[in-house]
Amino acid sequence: MQKIASGIFKLTFGTPEEFTPVSVLKPVTCLEALNALEDHPLPFLREDIHFQPRQGSVLLEIPLEPEEEVYGLGLQLKSFRQSGSKKKLRTNSDPSADLGDSHAPVPFYVSTAGYAILVDTARYATFFSGGCKRVGSRQDLEGFESAGTEKGHWEVKKGSGNMLVDIPAAQGVDIYVFCGGDMKDAVSRYNLFSGGGALPPMWGLGVMYRADWHADQEDVLQLARQIREDEMPCDMFGLEPGWQTNAYSCTYVWDSNRFPDETRLIQDLNDMGYRLNLWEHAYVHPDSPVFPELKPYSADSYVWDGLVPDFTQAEARKAFTDIHQPFIEAGLSGFKLDECDNGDYIGNWGFPDFARFPGGADGEQMHSLFGQLYQQTMLAPFKAADRRTYGQVRASQALAAPYPYVLYSDLYDHEDFVRGLATASFSGLLWSPEVRQTATREELLRRIGAVIFSPLAVLNCYMIPSPPWKQFDHDKNHAGEWLEDWPQLAQQCRKLLQIRMSLIPYLYAAFGRYRQQGVPPIRPLVMDYPGDSEVLDCFDQFMVGEDLMAAPVVYGNGDTRKLYLPQGRWYERLTGEWLNGGQWITRQVAEDEVPLYIRQGALIPWAEPVLCVRDDTVFNIEPVLYGAEAGECSLLCDDAVSYSMISESLPFATIKVTQEGGLSIEEQDIISERYRLAGVKYVPDGERG
Ligand code: GAL
Repeated sequence: MQKIASGIFKLTFGTPEEFTPVSVLKPVTCLEALNALEDHPLPFLREDIHFQPRQGSVLLEIPLEPEEEVYGLGLQLKSFRQSGSKKKLRTNSDPSADLGDSHAPVPFYVSTAGYAILVDTARYATFFSGGCKRVGSRQDLEGFESAGTEKGHWEVKKGSGNMLVDIPAAQGVDIYVFCGGDMKDAVSRYNLFSGGGALPPMWGLGVMYRADWHADQEDVLQLARQIREDEMPCDMFGLEPGWQTNAYSCTYVWDSNRFPDETRLIQDLNDMGYRLNLWEHAYVHPDSPVFPELKPYSADSYVWDGLVPDFTQAEARKAFTDIHQPFIEAGLSGFKLDECDNGDYIGNWGFPDFARFPGGADGEQMHSLFGQLYQQTMLAPFKAADRRTYGQVRASQALAAPYPYVLYSDLYDHEDFVRGLATASFSGLLWSPEVRQTATREELLRRIGAVIFSPLAVLNCYMIPSPPWKQFDHDKNHAGEWLEDWPQLAQQCRKLLQIRMSLIPYLYAAFGRYRQQGVPPIRPLVMDYPGDSEVLDCFDQFMVGEDLMAAPVVYGNGDTRKLYLPQGRWYERLTGEWLNGGQWITRQVAEDEVPLYIRQGALIPWAEPVLCVRDDTVFNIEPVLYGAEAGECSLLCDDAVSYSMISESLPFATIKVTQEGGLSIEEQDIISERYRLAGVKYVPDGERG
């Protein structure tokens, strides 16, 4: 057993494989931040872990007490609490059942007992989270109750076995145990072990609009002008496959017929306050200039007739970044790294598990880490240029926290999308429940209501030529039939997006804490209230930063929202009421509203919403103090765009309101550049006087 840092232990069983998340991704652990935390011992004895080599696999059995609840295993769209479940963690797109397939499966779980475990494998491991009892295990020897419940013998009791992990092909494995005071602490330690959370550029927290994939240069500019005329907040403008000479697979070469002057395009968009983002995937078309150079460093199978580069090889990384370098030099802000997962369910694309890569990995191992290796490769030129990027990606696995890429998917059920927001945060992942064309007006607004409380507020309009606030319906949008009252729908969309924009300084500080302390900026209630049994299955309510709780309405459930207020007192933004925690309440929620609650005692730095965050944007901030006479909050005062400013010690300024009735700011000089503070506003809690 090796101690890695305060409360983090590495345990080795048998002979681990060479190709694992830790050995391949090489996390730069934030040791200083970790060692400043309180130390905790292992939650069980090492001897209590049972390791057994089997034919073609190894089995690990890790203690799990009956009262423990388990969460994690990466982005899980169809289930939240994992206690009792069986999940085979395979990287896949569009899974239709709750079997463990995911864009970002992570061999990592966290227990309500306050510890978390990373099983360092790139194999399709199967996790039995207490649902399977092994003959000869502790539960067997201690005896167990019959399987029936008081409701009858036909109902199966939830299992209370240990955690069993079946790892195919391996002969051994390392596990990392993160021992914290509670779940949030354990998850934060895992994120710090991974290298700290991603800190996006501030503009990345604005809105992203992805344009129709048929659009040419003039259409794009026309759309961009329209968005500004409609006064819709938007920071990032995304182009979809149509910008290249060939997209499936990719050439990474502008189609000059449709985009005759890309430098001008980037410039024109920048002038309007947009940052350009380009769609691509990593499969390299034979016509791509980089094809010959990459071929020796690629897999022995093609995808969509394109090469699959082995990003573990320096030569492949170099050739791939070289062909992207001109985009970055021209001022591009980021990429959407599509289809680096695998298509077993729709289209049957992707390299096979038996594929071989020059660096020694097989297809199964590479599927697990392809998304992250791709992200690492594409990050390098931005780091070299000292410019932060914030992009999208379709696959991740373990140790993903430091990567400034947000997951998204093609799945189309709003409840799954919202659940993904909750599950992602347990495992160091960022997820966006993106908005597209919709079936109804209400669906559009509910989807926007959820995406504004996610790491990336993206409207993925690649299938429609006009913005969805003009026409949400796909066919009518194509026919140019705008809604008669589109200005009203636009106003509703704008109102929701402005909530996001008014929270940018607050969210940016929350991401600063993610970077520095590993605390996920948006997380389900159970992470903050693990002892409250009411929140164990609550996947659709989120703590946003330290002081806000959002309860977006899931589309399909009507306008009646039942929600839970955790312990304490909460200010309800919609009604202006103060409410006691520890109760369920029901609200009618209009289509252009989202229930939002503010913790008693919080000082929130509300900003006047801007349309986009330019390098010289100054936020007009009205600090509001809720239900207290004194309070404080933080604002992150770095330059918000460069990598060199990101360090383990970020320049936070503390805004303090004291009982004597004054607003004081520590670090006054750094704050003045980006934030202009108005006097404090008080929202008293009548009951507290
Ligand atoms: C999908 C992706 C969509 C869109 C499309 C373009 O894989 O999820 O968002 O980019 O490809 O072909």
